[in-house]
Amino acid sequence: MTTHKLLLLAGDGIGPETMAEVEKILAVLNRGEARFETERGLVGGAAIDAHGVPISEGDMALALGADAVLFGAVGGPKWDGVAYEIRPEAGLLRLRKDMELFANLRPAICYPALAEASSLKRELVDGLDILILRELTGGVYFGSPKEIVDLGQGQKRGIDTQVYETYEIERIARAAFEAARTRHGKVTSMEKRNVMKTGVLWNEVVTRIGRDEYPDVRLEHMLADAGGMQLVRAPKQFDVIVTDNLFGDMLSDIAAMLTGSLGMLPSASLGAPDAANGAKRRALYEPVHGSAPDIAGQGIANPIAMIASAAMMLRYSFGLTREADALEASIASVLESGTRTGDIMAPGCRQVGTGEMGDAIAQAFSERLAA
Ligand code: IPM
Ligand code: MG
Repeated sequence: MTTHKLLLLAGDGIGPETMAEVEKILAVLNRGEARFETERGLVGGAAIDAHGVPISEGDMALALGADAVLFGAVGGPKWDGVAYEIRPEAGLLRLRKDMELFANLRPAICYPALAEASSLKRELVDGLDILILRELTGGVYFGSPKEIVDLGQGQKRGIDTQVYETYEIERIARAAFEAARTRHGKVTSMEKRNVMKTGVLWNEVVTRIGRDEYPDVRLEHMLADAGGMQLVRAPKQFDVIVTDNLFGDMLSDIAAMLTGSLGMLPSASLGAPDAANGAKRRALYEPVHGSAPDIAGQGIANPIAMIASAAMMLRYSFGLTREADALEASIASVLESGTRTGDIMAPGCRQVGTGEMGDAIAQAFSERLAA
């Protein structure tokens, strides 16, 4: 029996509450054939409070040694005043960079039961199934210089640097084309080549990879601003969207809202397959929503994005396809039954808290696995 080593980094805000629901899912799995061993670490504000840094060297080492990392959320008003270098988000960015998690998969799926919760009309989002491939270790998030320079006489200059090299675009493009082959065979690449040199290079590299290596996949290009507009005008035209770090951050929040709530969107951040064992790759799974400090500690947060992130882990890190399918189907059936957290509440449904939603999904999951 293989043992899978997980590191749980619950973080701040609603992170610990939603992570507790994932632990119920892991308990169900451990009653079956799979064996998950968990260790816990601190990240974000919780790590700042304990260690003075947003992630300790010890927890970084655990993350690098784990088979997969499950991540909750970081940040909150309590740490607004800390130095920029050690702000809570820096812990997440360091994990992404040091684990070389260049491919961020953000699927936006609209469960039929939630089509009414979307801010768009039902017919625009019903059955929506798109996958955003966000480049995660490059671009303006990490480019240098990144600084504020004092120019004197009350003037300063803030600088961020958007930079991409060929290999970085090639590997995220390949990840997008590979994903499209398992889906509906279409990739839409988004950049701003009309104003950015990185956009010109991005467009050129994605075009070449598509033409030379994936002629069977349909490739289309869109300027990122027009892409945002199309996402809210006719989102079902998309299959896989591939884009850079910053545009991917913004476009995935837009896509999340199409599905009814930011509380619904999971994500997987993957590194390159291991050179020695191609089935293995570094991976971190996290919900797209943040720490939601306004509702933290009240037991009302929606744990579905966190649980669906665990389903992505089963699929992408451990090849546990049956279990991943069962977990996703359990989420869908619980929603179908009218059980809702406040963010996705609808007339005639039953409103529950974080723990009850987790219990309902764990129960449905356990029944499905036994069936
Ligand atoms: C996300 C978040 C992060 C990002 C923050 C918390 C640094 O918004 O994962 O989308 O900007 O990448
Ligand atoms: Mg974001």
